[in-house]
Amino acid sequence: MNIIKLNAIDSTNDFLKAMSQKNDIENYTIITAEEQTKGRGQQGSKWLSESGKNLITSILIKDAVGNIESIFCLNITVTVSIIEALKNINIPSLQIKWPNDIMSGNKKIAGILIENLIKENGKIDSIVGIGLNINQINFENLPKASSLKKIMKQDFDIEKILKEIVLNIQKNIQKINNNTIDDLWNNYHEILFRIGKPVVFENEDKEKFMGIIQRVNENGKLEVLLENDQIESYGIKEITMIY
Ligand code: BTN
Repeated sequence: MNIIKLNAIDSTNDFLKAMSQKNDIENYTIITAEEQTKGRGQQGSKWLSESGKNLITSILIKDAVGNIESIFCLNITVTVSIIEALKNINIPSLQIKWPNDIMSGNKKIAGILIENLIKENGKIDSIVGIGLNINQINFENLPKASSLKKIMKQDFDIEKILKEIVLNIQKNIQKINNNTIDDLWNNYHEILFRIGKPVVFENEDKEKFMGIIQRVNENGKLEVLLENDQIESYGIKEITMIY
């Protein structure tokens, strides 16, 4: 594995993006950092992580899917691959909070930020950013965050977990091309947080409403059964789950 280890950087996603735009770099080039000064999360949020304690990584995946419409398949692949690695070290109650927060019980332990670059030849380079809380135990002002150490009361080898995640991604990505992606979708839905249960959501106008999660569709939208018996699908920016 081609792992480039950095000490401090603004964001591993930004670093890898710039690197892949300048040079033709190898598929599965991996950047890791001890700390980020501008770690980015979903929807313009910040990703905070104590220096040296957690997995902060970005992985270049070239040409995972043929067209941008199928790009959510990559999210599913990465999410399930992380879950498999965590299951292997016995992390309990693993769930996926749509679209791809990794939870143990009610606590978020990892986040994924995938950014796609469409190149001139139409091919897609994906920058898969993963922040996994491993050995950090203080999460001041982050009541919904946790880590492997907080849950399991032991330290973990960060690089070993990274390598396992990457091997799982390499294995699972084959399923996108050989039409067995349904396996991954099934795995994803089996552990989708609050599936089939009444949940309170908030829309962009901050209005709250109730609904029951049905599934996530091929475009990555969440399908929710509303009180008027209609099923509505929502994109990532349109709703937040209150839990
Ligand atoms: C989320 O909001 O849940 C996604 C968090 C993604 C954080 C990772 S850490 C490594 C990579 N570099 C970044 O700037 N963000 C991602």
